[in-house]
Amino acid sequence: MLLRCVTRTCHVLVLVLCLSAAEDFDWTKNNHGSFYYGTFPTGFSWGAGSSAYQTEGAWDQDGKGLSIWDVFSHKKGKVFFNDTGDSSCESYYKVKEDISLIKELKLNHYRFSISWPRIIPTGIKSDHVNEKGIEYYDSLIDSLLENDITPIVTLYHWDLPQLLQDKYGGWQNVSMINYFNEFANLCFERFGNRVKYWITFNNPWAVAVEGYETGEHAPGLKLRGTGAYRAAHHIIKAHAKVWHTYDTHWRSKQNGMVGISLAGDWGEPVDITNQKDIEAAERYVQFYMGWFATPIFHGDYPQVMKEFVGRKSAQQGLGTSRLPTFSSQERSYIKGTCDFLGIGHFTTRYITQKSYPTGRGGAYFTDRDVAELVDPRWPDPGSEWLYAVPWGFRRLLNFVKTQYGNPDIYITENGVSEKMMCTELCDDWRIQYFKEYINEMLKAIKDGVNVKGYTAWSLLDKFEWDEGYSERFGLYYVDFRNHKKPRYPKASVQFYKRIISANGFPSQREVESWKRKATETCSSSNQLLAAGLYIFCKRNT
Ligand code: NOJ
Repeated sequence: MLLRCVTRTCHVLVLVLCLSAAEDFDWTKNNHGSFYYGTFPTGFSWGAGSSAYQTEGAWDQDGKGLSIWDVFSHKKGKVFFNDTGDSSCESYYKVKEDISLIKELKLNHYRFSISWPRIIPTGIKSDHVNEKGIEYYDSLIDSLLENDITPIVTLYHWDLPQLLQDKYGGWQNVSMINYFNEFANLCFERFGNRVKYWITFNNPWAVAVEGYETGEHAPGLKLRGTGAYRAAHHIIKAHAKVWHTYDTHWRSKQNGMVGISLAGDWGEPVDITNQKDIEAAERYVQFYMGWFATPIFHGDYPQVMKEFVGRKSAQQGLGTSRLPTFSSQERSYIKGTCDFLGIGHFTTRYITQKSYPTGRGGAYFTDRDVAELVDPRWPDPGSEWLYAVPWGFRRLLNFVKTQYGNPDIYITENGVSEKMMCTELCDDWRIQYFKEYINEMLKAIKDGVNVKGYTAWSLLDKFEWDEGYSERFGLYYVDFRNHKKPRYPKASVQFYKRIISANGFPSQREVESWKRKATETCSSSNQLLAAGLYIFCKRNT
């Protein structure tokens, strides 16, 4: 069998489809090309990223308020092993140390997020501003700048103040737009003299779908068929409002840029000669990145989303579509609110058409009428969902170029995790992943896509949401069982460092020598480290 169904959507019917589709699929038509030796444009920005809840720890220190992730992770059974981000990497106390790691890599930028409840404990600015929280971000920003590292700052990486969830229902409620705008405005006021790259939301797809539709993420609501669409609607409006706030009040003084970071898996038709598969794959991408990008670049939801959700809502007997609508004023207000597009990309799926009956009510996943498949030969070294398919990255980037008018792009997340819950500093699969994905990005730049920067995800191993600490994405290994949370470089640090200093891949001979050099010392450090730890190596599947 060539194709494998993805668990979430895997039904007997799809399995049959997998088997039959597999027989017809012609792999020879998918020659994805060879490695491209060359360098990136001068000034290309190399970075690594993190987010507040995933790394800071200090969840209840110095006047910080509760976020929905504090409360969610403290409930039993929500996160793998009942892990929490209470202390995580303790980055709140390790600004100097983390900056030395960033310097070791010679990064041009560092992407981090501001915890809203750390600086506004209740979420509502007029209640109270926590100066201790402001001081922490001041010192992080100042230390980065002293070391010539550009801060790229995300305003919302999923940690909504709990009070706003309790009182108003979080992103289900339109009032979030103003509260978020006040928080963003405070950040522009206090940090905008030094921060020039702002990202309003990180991966709003996950906020909407996993927070309000499937409930796998905080706040854990399962508002099937409506929750995700409503949350997304308010998020898009909040993003636009914050962009306008910056544009009207701060841009001329501060000269920065405001963008959004969208997640986008690529969807490739199972059979590129089959019109139904082609349309299904297009729908998959439109329901994913297009859901947010189309309003922001063109003023409204993708036509295909309006059609599908509208038709299914009518079939359910609803008077209006479950997908909310923008008024014409809103459309023109939202259109063009993006100085750069951030893209978080990790993986690809094969897509085929699959019709879902509407009888039992609608849901985001059945509204799309698609089935996701994977090729079992794709490497899947880490998270269950993360197959390494480098060529999908180039296709996604070209899609963005043609659909949204060739915007400036910053890759805000790209990387791979590992399955083993034990020390593994010899991460050759991560070296391979970075090498090939970064190479596909280089090819996309040669295709004319305006990629200006790349952010490896992530600087450190950290709290991986509902997976707890079981999935490690870091360039640096963090020993979470030691309360000092020491960091150790994985071999990929050495490899990424060389890509950065060469600004790409100068020649085959050189690139091949990098891998040898990167892995030269990792096995001895691995043994040393393992000897000092109570190591248990457990497959986490
Ligand atoms: C996207 C999220 O933004 C990030 O926080 C997470 O670590 C990665 N996906 C990997 O799952």
